[in-house]
Amino acid sequence: MIKAPRGTNDILPPESHKWIYLEGLLRRLSRVYNFEEIRTPMFEHTELFSRTVGETTDIVQKEMYTFQDKGKRDLTLRPEGTAPVVRAFLERGLDSGALPKKLFYLGPMFRYEKPQAGRYREFRQYGVEILGSGSPYSDVEAILLGIRIAEELGLLGTTLFINTIGCPVCREKHKEDLIKHLSDKASNLCPDCQSRLGKNPLRVLDCKNPACRQVTGDVPSIHDYLCCDCKEHWEALKQLLTSMGLEYSVDHALVRGLDYYTKTVFELKWPPLGAQDTIIGGGRYDGLVEDLGGKPVPGVGFALGLERLLLASDKGERPIEPGVYLDCFVVTPESEDESRSREIMERGFHLLNDFRSLGLSCDFDPLRRSIRAQMKHANRLNARYVAIFGEEELKKNKVAIRSMEHGWQKEVELERVLGFMKEEVSGGSD
Ligand code: HAM
Repeated sequence: MIKAPRGTNDILPPESHKWIYLEGLLRRLSRVYNFEEIRTPMFEHTELFSRTVGETTDIVQKEMYTFQDKGKRDLTLRPEGTAPVVRAFLERGLDSGALPKKLFYLGPMFRYEKPQAGRYREFRQYGVEILGSGSPYSDVEAILLGIRIAEELGLLGTTLFINTIGCPVCREKHKEDLIKHLSDKASNLCPDCQSRLGKNPLRVLDCKNPACRQVTGDVPSIHDYLCCDCKEHWEALKQLLTSMGLEYSVDHALVRGLDYYTKTVFELKWPPLGAQDTIIGGGRYDGLVEDLGGKPVPGVGFALGLERLLLASDKGERPIEPGVYLDCFVVTPESEDESRSREIMERGFHLLNDFRSLGLSCDFDPLRRSIRAQMKHANRLNARYVAIFGEEELKKNKVAIRSMEHGWQKEVELERVLGFMKEEVSGGSD
């Protein structure tokens, strides 16, 4: 048997109903915070990611699904959404429209990582990007939306970690000192970090290898190197978070795994998730638009993994209930007379179609099983009402409507049954 590739998931019912709910919630909150949807291709030119996410990052060095197409183009299944959004922002001229442009996206990303709970090779991200605002209010707006999402899912006890990683100006000297500091201990670093050290020492700080973590414990902090602009932004960010009543922890070790960040970086963690407890990650990227050939346009945003959020929701205070039900199941009991049976089935099918025209969610039994089997099927589908149309009903031109919730059964004239059901389903009665 051919199995699904490692690190991928099939999203089956009733789980898929939770996805629909979550995606609905994310779209609704995007509207509340005025983010508009953008959809970019599932694959991009490899160079887009190597130039922005960074040559020395784990994502680019180890995790990308890169291939050559038949035209010998180097392409990569997108590992993240920010670089594609900025590429589209520039390519489609959104930079010359009204700013800030606030965009959100929802869709699959691909990273060749070691699969475990909450970490997959194909996973789905929701992300937002605010392009054209350098204000710390925009950082806080993004953070507030992230926290609101977690709150609406009933995730109590999330922790917001923030840090600043400065800008190329303040990083220059910091980088020099970092290299000096780490060079003495280079032999203790993992082979990847040894080769990264000279090019991008910030990546060494992000390495998960325990040996590297030990070495990076007492490195010079970027906070001692911040330029005026970065310092002012950092202070304003903290002041604003406090004024909004948001608790946060400053984590000097938080540098994030992508190279495009400047100034603010943040993560929202939910500890009950265990090893993969970061549900939201984001930050500011004031140089990214320019790096991709545009004029200087600052940006800030975040992304969250939907799989992780659903895992968290299942463990949280208010798990999403799939809430799967049918408004009505049409039961067509067999008659002893085959031609009458056929008429019952056909008229039952018309009735089903009429209910569906009204917008009711309905189903029936195409296999013509016994009445008991049909009732069992209706129960399994969680039908709120059952419409029984058998020999008796055919004779009387009526339909027997049974409320599965309340247990009553009423006979309703065929010509009145649509109005009756419409009222029942919208208002309900007992
Ligand atoms: P990221 O931290 O790489 O940031 O990913 C954001 C979120 O995606 C993570 O916090 C996690 O919830 C989820 N995620 C990442 N990798 C996996 C995986 N292998 N399996 C399941 N979930 C995963 C970014 O992608 C940036 N583009 C975020 C951003 C937007 N920064 C600014 N704007």
